[in-house]
Order: sequence, then structure tokens, then C-alpha cells
Amino acid sequence: MKFGYFDDANREYVITTPRTPLPWINYLGCNEFFSLISNTCGGYSFYKDAKLLRLTRYRYNDMPLDCNGKYFYIKEGDTLWNPGWKPTQTELDSYECRHGIGYSKFSGSKNGLKADILSFVPLKDTCEISRLTLTNESGADKTFSVFSYVEWCLWNADDDMKNFQRNFSTGEVEVVGSTIYHKTEYRERRNHYAIYSVNAPITAFDTSRDAFIGAYHSPANPEAVLAGKLTGSIASGWSPVAAHQLDVTLKAGESKDFIFVLGYVENPEDEKWESHQVINKTRAIALLAKYDTDAKVDAAFAELKEYWNGLLSKYTVESSNDKVNRMVNIWNQYQCMVTFNMSRSASYYESGIGRGMGFRDSCQDLLGFVHLIPDRARERIIDIASTQFQDGSAYHQYQPLTKKGNSDIGSGFNDDPLWLIAGTSAYIRETGDMTILDEMVPFDNDESVAQPLMEHLKRSFDYIVNHKGPHKLPLIGRADWNDCLNLNCHSTQPGESFQTFGPSEGPVAESVFIGGMFVKYGLEYAELCDLQGKAEEAARARAEVEEMRKVLLSDAGWDGDWFVRAYDSYGNKVGGKECEEGQIFIEPQGFCVLAGVGVETGQAQKALDSVKERLDTQYGIMILQPAYTVYHEELGEVSSYPPGYKENAGIFCHNNPWVSIAETVIGRGDRAFEVYRKTCPAYTEEISEIHRTEPYIYCQMVAGRDAKFHGEGKNSWLTGTAAWTFVNISQYILGVYPTHQGLSVDPCVPSDFGDFKVTRKFREGTYHISVRKADGIQKGVKELIVDGQKVDGHIIPYVKGKTEYQVEVVMG
Ligand code: BGC
Ligand code: NOJ
Repeated sequence: MKFGYFDDANREYVITTPRTPLPWINYLGCNEFFSLISNTCGGYSFYKDAKLLRLTRYRYNDMPLDCNGKYFYIKEGDTLWNPGWKPTQTELDSYECRHGIGYSKFSGSKNGLKADILSFVPLKDTCEISRLTLTNESGADKTFSVFSYVEWCLWNADDDMKNFQRNFSTGEVEVVGSTIYHKTEYRERRNHYAIYSVNAPITAFDTSRDAFIGAYHSPANPEAVLAGKLTGSIASGWSPVAAHQLDVTLKAGESKDFIFVLGYVENPEDEKWESHQVINKTRAIALLAKYDTDAKVDAAFAELKEYWNGLLSKYTVESSNDKVNRMVNIWNQYQCMVTFNMSRSASYYESGIGRGMGFRDSCQDLLGFVHLIPDRARERIIDIASTQFQDGSAYHQYQPLTKKGNSDIGSGFNDDPLWLIAGTSAYIRETGDMTILDEMVPFDNDESVAQPLMEHLKRSFDYIVNHKGPHKLPLIGRADWNDCLNLNCHSTQPGESFQTFGPSEGPVAESVFIGGMFVKYGLEYAELCDLQGKAEEAARARAEVEEMRKVLLSDAGWDGDWFVRAYDSYGNKVGGKECEEGQIFIEPQGFCVLAGVGVETGQAQKALDSVKERLDTQYGIMILQPAYTVYHEELGEVSSYPPGYKENAGIFCHNNPWVSIAETVIGRGDRAFEVYRKTCPAYTEEISEIHRTEPYIYCQMVAGRDAKFHGEGKNSWLTGTAAWTFVNISQYILGVYPTHQGLSVDPCVPSDFGDFKVTRKFREGTYHISVRKADGIQKGVKELIVDGQKVDGHIIPYVKGKTEYQVEVVMG
């Protein structure tokens, strides 16, 4: 069952009922000002940091779902309604929400009055625009009132929901004309305030929540709105809000626009005040002047669209499969940009006050957006590397505002260092910019011990070399990619954090998965050494990798039919036949094989066959089987979840593409695509009533076979799944992969996929690649012709400065 449809021509998902199984959200903003916006106008806005600089208040985990947002109420006689249905939930005559790329549109109508809202964050300013268009579609004149409403958050979203003894006394506002200024804490250390304004004279306003909503009402039935007249309240101490009233008359057929601007304004320290305790509004007035006419809003919206057209033209495919085209050309890349902007901070599932930027998360996100915004990727790599420790280990997280490592969580997640190699290698393969390796980058933000980035990569590599356990496998530390394999934690008390309790390192617990990563990224490190002319270091790295490969393929890493997952702190196997529960895990199968481990020996194929046999379901591949039914103190959080959820046998969408990529490595295009398809939103759209999360983007987890609600998605939007599925489909299945020597084209597609074309911008060039293949062929390049010239192999040699490449590939 579906709750909408894809409009590919407009790059929109059109939601046709407000009663979606869960709030289906979108993101507005590309640079510094961001909003989350749901299909019923719920959500909130923040500047740069969702915790520290939150403009509007949102209530997570409340009922009804998705409370608070940017609402417009329309009151015509006794009928009160919202164009986006919530919060009044008055039945609408028509409803539509179009989530687009960086904007959302809503359209609702009632009794012959139509209200359209266009919401977006302009590229160059720190504000959100909501243009409300009212059209009288009835045959008679209409007179009605429109009310706007947002609730201010007192900036620090964490404190805002906890520190009531203070918060109930700090709220302050000013009102001038149609602009409401939110200035809580401006009198002391803040030099920023927020505004909410409309480009028309207002009849009235309210800024006190008590006056507007009323102590025993809710946003579904605000007292002042019911009365048809806002009260002119000035909030003092208690919760400040911003509400405007516009009284409107429309002739039959007439239409009127109102432009609402929610903005963030910062003043220099010495220009804070206009007069005693009166805020300086010059910058606010200037900002509002930029968006006070339709023409200006149209221009800003066109500019935003142009920006996205540019980004989404970097990789496009034309194939006979509409779902693949749609995901590759629009939604998958869009989600990659959102994960770049948000990391794991603010979604419907992430409250915006928790995690900072993850070291491993950010490095992996980069794999999905490096081709879109290479300059920002470069900055990101330097920021991440600056939090690394001198011994090569890394803070697991850092704070986006300070860019400093987060000592609450500290280090000890032993996969982290290798992801830095992954990100850097991807950036250099994409751009050819070797200079990044010479950038002086601090350790733990201490400039006095800065070293070239290449030295950071060496220390990442050596961290693994120097931290091996009894089987010569990498020590796991607090956990590896699977944050819930806390093998040194041994927590027995509720409330202890699985991830920070216990020692950060034990001498015994090992990870086979990190071993697979070491092979993959160790070889990428060796390639960088070659390019820098460090032949000896390259040889040393390759020798270390070969050692690791041997261990992985020996009884230490191999369980007979699949790769072992880990060894716990007693030296017992995790992910082996002898285990009662958790006999096989997905991660080492996917990662070892995608790294090429066991391809020659046949173990690769065997491992992937075991995945299919033991972990596969109709909704994707589960992370492990059999699920843990009891808590294992020696394993940690993984066994804390009920069977089928999250890391305990859920379908973790993030590592499904690893298996799909692994299948392309051994040339099985049909199976690679089957794995791709099972978690692909364009396919799961059909079962939205089961899947429940947004059908246009990936979620982190789908409940596994052991769960009561098998197939149900959770934790949508902010997941490494976005990057990895894009890497999978674009670089492995469609097969256009950036190498240091040039673009490689080596697809691995289903037998019946047909011919297809990819347009890829790579460095200065645009590559028009046309792939032909006979039915039945899944992998192999028989012929590569570049600008009429036959080329051996499958890499299009990079020619500096050349801008156009016509490429023909015949598979076979
Ligand atoms: C979740 C993991 C996540 C971790 C982050 C755990 O509770 O299950 O998916 O990586 O928290 O700290
Ligand atoms: C989500 C976390 O953000 C990520 O870092 C981790 O790898 C996965 N969960 C698996 O535990």
C-alpha cells in the first residue's frame, strides 16, 4: 500500500494523505540554517547546531505524533483548519504534500478556499521562508483570518527541556510592526536573536504561549485563535511564542500571497543594542528586505533549484529501470547530502541533543558525497583527522561547533582509524588532489604536534598493526563498526553505558571485521604510498595486509562456511557454529569479500552463499542469526535488544550494500541486485504500510525475522546506508568507479538489466558512458572505446584538462 507517489520530473515525492504511518519528513537548508519539516508541517529549525542554537521548540516522543511545527491556522466563520492538516486535524477537502529537494510544498483546501505553502531555506541566508498563497476557489467573496504560530526554543535544546527552574523566568521578546523578535538570553552572553515576520501589516499578534494557546488548551485549539482575535501579549519569563493574525478578504477567484520569514540574526558584540536593552534590528530589517516580494522569493527559490540541478548532474543514469534511475539521480544522492549536513544529529529519531559528529560515520558519509562537494569533503577530512590521537586512535565523536573531540565518549572504537584512510583515499581518487596529504594536521587539536595528513594515515594503519590479539587479529577495543559488540564492557548494572563502561581496550577480544577493513584500506593506503613515491612503505603495508589476509583465511578467521565475527574477552568465538546464538554475522562476510579476501580460494563465494542461506529475508539481510534471546554480559549491547531489532538480528540496511558489493566482486550481478532491491526505497514504497518510514529514503534498520513487526523500518534519514548504497549502485553495480588513474567502468548488473547510459562528471571532465550488453551477461568488459579509440582494460585514462569523453563499453 502507498500513501503517495514519486513525481520524478519534479524530483518530488507527493504525499496524498496526511495520515502517513509515521511523520514523513524532509530537510530544508544546505549551509548554516536548517529545518526539519514533516508532511503535516511539524518540525523545527536551528542554526548550525541542533542542540546549542535551536530556534523553535519541538516535542519528541509525544502524542499525538509530531507535535509542534510551523503552523498556519485559517478561521472562516466557525471552521478552523490547517493547510497541512495538523494540528487541528480538521478534515480537508483536498490535501497534498510535496517533499522536494531542499524544499517542501503543502496544499490544502476547505470550503472553496485553497492554501498553498512553499517552504525553503534560501542558499545564502540564515532564514526559512514560508510563502502562503491563499486562493478563493469559491464563487463568492470570502473573509477569514489567518494565524501563524511557532514556539520559541530557548536556544539550548537540552537545557530547554530540563532546566525549568530557570527557563520559566528567562523568556523575552520585542515586537515592532509585523516582526516578532525572540531575544531570550540576549541581555547577557548571546549576541544573536531570532525573528518571525510577515511581509504585510498584521491585525494582531501574540508572543505569550499562555495567551495564545491557553493553559488548558493545545496547539490543536489555541484559545486566542478560537476567539478569532490575538491578544497582543508580550511574553515575560514564561514560554515565548510568535503568532501573527492577518484578516483577509478575497474576491471570488482572487489569490493573495503572504511571505513569512523565520530568521536567525547575529550582531557584533559592540553593535548589540539600539538603546538601553533594546536590540539592534538593523540586520534583521536588512534580511527581511531581501524576501519581501514574490519576485525576490521566486529568485531565491530558482537559485536553490539551480544549486541542486548542478549537484545532481554529477552522476546520472538512464536505464530501463525507473526505480534505479529515480534513486540514483535523485533521492539517494539527496540523502547523502543530508547525512553530510546532519551527520546523526537531528531527525525524527535523533533528538538533535545527543551525538556529535561520529568519526566513522563522517568518514563513511563522505564516500557518498565526495563527488558532489569535494571541497567540503576536503575540509571535513581535515576536521576529522585533527581529532585523531598521536598513536593513531581517535575520538569516537567530535562536536561540530568546536570541532573538538568529545571526551565523554573518548576513544577505543578500533575500526575508527581505518575509516580515515577510506575517506581520504576516496577524496583523492575523486579529485586527484594529492596536496591534501601534505596538509599539516594537528593531533587532538594540538597544533604544536601537527603532522602531514599522510602521517595521520600511517598512524591509522599502524594502530591496527600494533594492536593485535592472540589470533593476530585486530583488537576490538570498545567496539568496532557494530557499536553494540562491547566485548570488553561486561556491564551488569542498568544505566551503565555499554560503550563507555569497562576498559577501552582488552588484550584478548578481537574483531575479524576490522581485519577485513585492514585488507581493504591497507591496500588503499599502500596505493597512496606508491603515489607519493614511498615504495618501501608501500611494500611494508602490503606485507602487513598479506599477513592479515592469511589470518582471515585460516581457522582463526574462517569457521568452515563463513568468516568468524570476533573473539570475546575470554577468547571464545563470536559468530561461529559452536555458538548457541549469534552463529553467523553479516559484517565480516560482506567486508572481507568486498576486500577481495577468499576470492581465489572459493571462501568468498561460500561465505556469501551462507549469507543467503542463513541471513536473507524478503526485506533484506539480517545482521546475525540466530538472534540472542538472553543477555550476554560478555557481548554487551548487541544482546540487549529484543530479537529482531537493531543490532540483534535486525536488518541493518548499512551493511546490506557490503554484501551486494561483495557479490559484484565475485561477478554475481543478479544476486547483487537482488540484495540492492530488497532495501531500496523505490521498491519498498509498495509496502509502505509495513515499512512505515519515508518511502523516498533509507532507514537505518528494518525489523528482522524474529521481530513481531518484521519488515518495519526505523530510524530513517541519518544513516550510513545512504552513502554505502550509493557507492554500491553507482560504483559497483553500474560500475563507474573513480581510481587514481582515471574512471573505471566495470559494471556488474542483472542478466536482464539491458543497456544503460551514465553521465559522470569526474575532475574536469564529463564522461558520457554508454554500456551495451547482451542478455545473460552480468559482468565483464569486452570492449572499451574512448572517443573512438580502443582502450585495454576498463579504466578510461585521465587526461588533464580534457572536458568531454565519449565512452562506449561492451560487456561480455
Ligand atoms: C545503537 C547503535 C548506535 C549506537 C550509537 C546504540 O544504542 O544500537 O546503532 O551506533 O547506539 O552510540
Ligand atoms: C549507528 C552508528 O551511527 C554507527 O556508527 C554504527 O556503525 C552503527 N549504528 C552500527 O552499530
